Amino acid sequence: MKKNKIERNVVSLPLQEVGIANYPDSLDKEFEFIKGIEYDKDPNPDDPRIQTSIDKFILFRPELKKLYKFLQREVDSYVENILHSSTKLKINSSWVAMNNNGGRCEPHTHVSVINGCFYINVPDDKTPLILDTYNCLGVREGFDISVKNNDLVLWDNKLSHWVPSNKNKETRYSLAFNTSYAEQFEFSLALAEAFNNPNSDVKNIKNNKGEVPSETTDTIIKSLHSNNLKTDKNNINKI
Ligand SMILES: [Fe+2]
Repeated sequence: MKKNKIERNVVSLPLQEVGIANYPDSLDKEFEFIKGIEYDKDPNPDDPRIQTSIDKFILFRPELKKLYKFLQREVDSYVENILHSSTKLKINSSWVAMNNNGGRCEPHTHVSVINGCFYINVPDDKTPLILDTYNCLGVREGFDISVKNNDLVLWDNKLSHWVPSNKNKETRYSLAFNTSYAEQFEFSLALAEAFNNPNSDVKNIKNNKGEVPSETTDTIIKSLHSNNLKTDKNNINKI
């Protein structure tokens, strides 16, 4: 008897709409500034990870004004032309990621709507950005995005992302940022600041109506810490 065998059927699934742009001018001055800022210490140099700038709002520094304008313009364009939406998203928190030889980054998501990463110095093409999708049984069907200097990648925060070890002796520098809905911008800044500074007085955070939801905010901050940045806008919308 002929053995029955299941065959693979291909159906149309929504494509992952990743945005890619390239900054057209030199960023030598910005690169010098970025190399000179302070970074978190790596707690375990034997198993190195990406180290991030102490300043988690680095794009608001005057030295990066030109780059900030370009990135916000590209976010606007991605939302309008690729996501086909009139929603206004604003860049809120942003930080530099320094990837020394051997440094890597585990899969994670952010507190964000869409994520952005801009590549300031990529020593070779062996350290891509990797975005993960999974089928219904949890088998990874992710994809790698090869990046070079001055590239910007934008993607949906629902996709977890990670970076393999930097095999190059030269340090790889990238600048990552989060976005929030424009009407929640002030609140999201306060929330991000509270997240970055666990000792900050979270009771002073106001939502976008000017109210002080201390209990709820406190709960959200604790949840952000315990979930390693894995939260979503639904929590924030309830405030
Ligand atoms: Fe990230």
